[in-house]
Amino acid sequence: MAAATNIVWHEASVDREARSRQRGHRSVILWFTGLSGSGKSTLANAVNAVLFERGLATYVLDGDNIRHGLCNDLGFSDADREENIRRIGEVAKLFVDAGVITLTAFVSPFRADRDKARALVADGDFIEVYCAADLAVCEDRDPKGLYAKARAGVIKEFTGISSPYEAPEAPELQVDTGSQSIEESVASVLSLLEEKGVLKAGA
Ligand code: ADX
Repeated sequence: MAAATNIVWHEASVDREARSRQRGHRSVILWFTGLSGSGKSTLANAVNAVLFERGLATYVLDGDNIRHGLCNDLGFSDADREENIRRIGEVAKLFVDAGVITLTAFVSPFRADRDKARALVADGDFIEVYCAADLAVCEDRDPKGLYAKARAGVIKEFTGISSPYEAPEAPELQVDTGSQSIEESVASVLSLLEEKGVLKAGA
């Protein structure tokens, strides 16, 4: 497939600033990363529920779900994961432009791929949240039985077992999703959003 040429950018008449003014809050990407079973989706969905209750425009992009549609042509090779994260970065960028607080829950194991997603948006618009439950905890939880299959060699290239996970070096937030309660983890994400001026304190 050849990439198209002769495509000219069309400036939108309703821009992000206008949307943000109308909605009363700014939009950011909350990028949750961590091992399978580390609690990314649980935390992203719990934060999403609180924001939704407060009347904010929010949406969760979740790896397991997106791989049923937009990314259903991709597997788990390094190259496919890179393409998966590239697409999610682009989709998240569109959502942020649409004025939506966008929560992404993907393993996103490679630092370089996460950094490319970060580079797509302005400084401050990408908030990386490292769900730092370690491998032993995730493997012990094994909510989908995938670690057992990976150990048995039934699933190849499984993150943490037979494929690497590169932990963030300087995430905006590290959440100890291995030992903290979900309420504690949600509270730390919410206070970060207050610090960043996305949420009003105590609102
Ligand atoms: S990513 O590496 O490309 O970011 P993504 O978050 O979309 O991965 O999908 C990970 C989810 O797919 C895991 O939570 C798990 O349920 C499932 N999965 C199936 N096979 C694998 C694998 N080989 N490695 C990691 N996760 C896998």
